[in-house]
Amino acid sequence: MKTNLLPFLLLLLLLLLHDPISVYAAAGPPASMAASSPGIQVENEEHHMDLHRKMVIALAVVSTALVVVIFGFLCFWIYSRKHLSKPNRKSVPNPDAEKGVALAPFLSKFSSVKMVGKKGYLPMIDYKQIEKATNNFQESNILGQGGFGCVYQARLDDNLDVAVKKLHCETQIAGREFENEVNLLSEIRHPNIISILGCSENEDKRFIVYELMKNGSLEAQLHGPSRGAALTWHMRMKIALDTARGLEYLHEHRKPAVIHRDLKSSNILLDENFNAKLSDFGLAIVDGSQSKSNIKLSGTLGYVAPEYLLDGKLTDKSDVYAFGVVLLELLLGRKPVEKLSPCHCQSIVTWAMPQLTDRSKLPNIVDPVIKDAMDLKHLYQVAAVAVLCVQPEPSYRPLITDVLHSLVPLVPVDLGGTLRLSNVAHHSVMS
Ligand SMILES: Nc1ncnc2c1ncn2[C@@H]1O[C@H](COP(=O)(O)OP(=O)(O)O)[C@@H](O)[C@H]1O
Ligand SMILES: [Mg+2]
Repeated sequence: MKTNLLPFLLLLLLLLLHDPISVYAAAGPPASMAASSPGIQVENEEHHMDLHRKMVIALAVVSTALVVVIFGFLCFWIYSRKHLSKPNRKSVPNPDAEKGVALAPFLSKFSSVKMVGKKGYLPMIDYKQIEKATNNFQESNILGQGGFGCVYQARLDDNLDVAVKKLHCETQIAGREFENEVNLLSEIRHPNIISILGCSENEDKRFIVYELMKNGSLEAQLHGPSRGAALTWHMRMKIALDTARGLEYLHEHRKPAVIHRDLKSSNILLDENFNAKLSDFGLAIVDGSQSKSNIKLSGTLGYVAPEYLLDGKLTDKSDVYAFGVVLLELLLGRKPVEKLSPCHCQSIVTWAMPQLTDRSKLPNIVDPVIKDAMDLKHLYQVAAVAVLCVQPEPSYRPLITDVLHSLVPLVPVDLGGTLRLSNVAHHSVMS
């Protein structure tokens, strides 16, 4: 405000300096001048007027220059506030990045970076380092088997444990999935989505380096040797909620939205505290992209929504269907597709549907590991959500945001929900 007034003050000063002339005009010359001879008086008057004119001009020039300088300074100040401060704003830590694994400390360790997508960049890790970190891809380092190769546990030079996915890219499809996953994940930092740390290549092989998820996949936890023993009712509800949060981010907060397309228990990974994160973005697509209309039908049997399987119709509701199947796996401890005989399979949806909607039957089909360990009201609620998610008609399925809101009150506060457990209740449900 003060700076804005300055030009006016200078203008006022200029006017005041003009004053003597206007005063003479109004009241005639001063007495000392009137006493001298008329010739000298005229000459003096002219000389005086000349001096005044020069002073006025000088003052006008100086004040104009001042105004120009101040105005220039003002413009620069406004411009710098608008544009030059942008990088500072960018460097303010993104809350999502804080919750996910931050890439910055990792980036500084590698001199080479790969430009990915439109705005992402990722450390390019030397292949020799990958080889050494995985003990030359030793079998004992294998964490899981993927469609185009294995995922290995690896230890980088600074004792950082990571997971490395090795993709054999002889085929175009594998190469495309690699590019797709790297492009998408390098732009995403979210606590419920796996963090990508770098990539590497050697001949026709590509490698993706991720944060290590110490408790492996939900599939391995539920259907592996432990048969879900590590997962209490509340832990299962937390995993469902985390998964819904990851999906909500993709569907509602990414612009344009991302459809995962391959949501299943083997693509939900668990860290050392059983925080769940979505992984495997090889098939994910950006909603509305031209590629959506001519994509190959892909997914996993048991999780694929009927409208996608039959008509190729792909929307965010296809992910909601797959989420419903995962919810059924968590509730019932059964695989999405059970083999009844060598040529006869049954999907968990067909098998469970009649019992899910019958309150008297529902408790009998719950996974024996968590049976009687939950509030029955909560069980009915979760079963109702699962039934809605796997509706054959996509428009009857809820949005993932609605699912998320219905799960929040079922998860204890210390696991990320809003459920407050009294000590007595806590013991009775955990036992
Ligand atoms: N970051 C990770 N930490 C721990 N295990 C992982 C990690 N990434 C993948 N895995 C294991 O490897 C398996 C296959 O990985 P995934 O990315 O799904 O490969 P694909 O795209 O071939 O299916 C997963 O189901 C999981 O068991
Ligand atoms: Mg997978």
